[in-house]
Amino acid sequence: MSINFSEGTDSEILTTAASLPEDSNEGSLRPRSITEYIGQEKAKGNLEIFINAAKMRGEALDHVLLHGPPGLGKTTLAAVIANEMGVNMRITSGPAIEKPGDLVAMLTNLNEGDILFVDEIHRLNRAYEEILYPAMEDYAIDIILGKGPSANSLHLDLPHFTLIGATTRSGQLTAPLRDRFGVSLRLELYTAEELKRIVERSANILNVKIDPQGAYEIASRSRGTPRIANRLLRRVRDFAQVKADGVITRAVADEALSRLEVDKLGLDALDRRMLRAIIELYNGGPVGLETLAATINEEAVTLEDMYEPYLLQMGFLTRTPRGRCVTHKAYDHLGIAYLGQQSMEL
Ligand code: ADE
Repeated sequence: MSINFSEGTDSEILTTAASLPEDSNEGSLRPRSITEYIGQEKAKGNLEIFINAAKMRGEALDHVLLHGPPGLGKTTLAAVIANEMGVNMRITSGPAIEKPGDLVAMLTNLNEGDILFVDEIHRLNRAYEEILYPAMEDYAIDIILGKGPSANSLHLDLPHFTLIGATTRSGQLTAPLRDRFGVSLRLELYTAEELKRIVERSANILNVKIDPQGAYEIASRSRGTPRIANRLLRRVRDFAQVKADGVITRAVADEALSRLEVDKLGLDALDRRMLRAIIELYNGGPVGLETLAATINEEAVTLEDMYEPYLLQMGFLTRTPRGRCVTHKAYDHLGIAYLGQQSMEL
């Protein structure tokens, strides 16, 4: 049997947690208030207290770091915070800040209490981070004008603002930056029940007829991620419109998702390729992440950020000091007989 471990398919694109151009109308589905925001109960509960306390004191909210896998609503939650605080939010991202002036311009254009949202903050140039330290701590920046002996320093006071940083890899933040966030919240993958409520809410906004079992079928195949759930809802809606009478039932959702190669547990072609590569080429593991990524022709960060969280949560994959291993459960799911771990030398 020959297996092509490097070919990509459309189903991977459908179930990636990364933001795609087709998600650009995600906006209309985004909740605006904390009561509309489904799930993340722990983070929400803490945030509500901090927001109320800051409002009672008439102060800006403390700086907030949101971390967790992609697609879980970090930008959405930041916009909810801005709305609840009644302030404006400016959005940028680590890689978009190409020179120190970009960051200085963003900071000096803020109004009192505003939120500056920096997505992928771990990708901010380390040298520019230092601008953020006094900005976050003392609401001020020092700008050096000119060079050499004639250089002058200009001290600028900033309005009291809130920095909300979002990252998929909080471990990559430097300690001085991480320490300056008063609030650090980890977003977790959503449960199928929470995603079902999100799918029902989105269907309602999109004017799509769906029954509870149909919503649950989409939810349970969305790898814990609202962005994927909303994307699958749109694809299943197309299918229901053309092939059924417009209503998404469990059977309609099941058929549509099976055609899209999203399996019963939400695994897509790349998940399966990754697990099969470990089983068939590395005897179930352990195999190092970089080696595995090269084998299936993917980037190690893509596997680590987008694919592993769900596979780990589902108990299909384990991380050991010597590399990744697949579990018995993964063999069962893929219908491959488990013959016990054998040494590669045999
Ligand atoms: N759409 C995307 N994420 C959501 C969430 N957490 N709650 C409600 N709707 C959403």
